[in-house]
Amino acid sequence: MAIRNIRKIGDSILNKRSKEITEMTPKIKTLIQDMIDTMYDAYGVGLAAPQVGILKRLIVIDVSEDGDSPIILINPEILETDGEQVGEEGCLSVPGKSGVVKRPNYAKVKALNENMEEITVEGTELLARALCHEIDHLNGELYVDKVIGELHSNTEE
Ligand code: NI
Repeated sequence: MAIRNIRKIGDSILNKRSKEITEMTPKIKTLIQDMIDTMYDAYGVGLAAPQVGILKRLIVIDVSEDGDSPIILINPEILETDGEQVGEEGCLSVPGKSGVVKRPNYAKVKALNENMEEITVEGTELLARALCHEIDHLNGELYVDKVIGELHSNTEE
């Protein structure tokens, strides 16, 4: 188990576009495991590779209550969205803050799994929000630029 350092807002790597993954390698396998460990360690529901300083199109998400069902998505692409939801969002790269962001209420995503097999993932509500948020990271976008109104500080800060 290895916890990686999470890059914080202001680090220019978070504004860069990540590159596609063309083959599975031992290095990427380790990166996937470290990203899952890092996400759980930080009590996050998702993490994108650029957040640990790696500009590759790889995200991990777990919105389950038990936090034991990680979804691994390589080169994810949004195929379809529907509806909208307006709600609070935060990011491990923007500690102690949250803000209201409008997202689709449904998203269907095509990606490769850790065996480089094509999969599709569909989600509503929190999962749809997490899919959109994490895929934005791969395009160098942070939710803070989509916040409606003000970014606020969380009470524990
Ligand atoms: Ni984030």
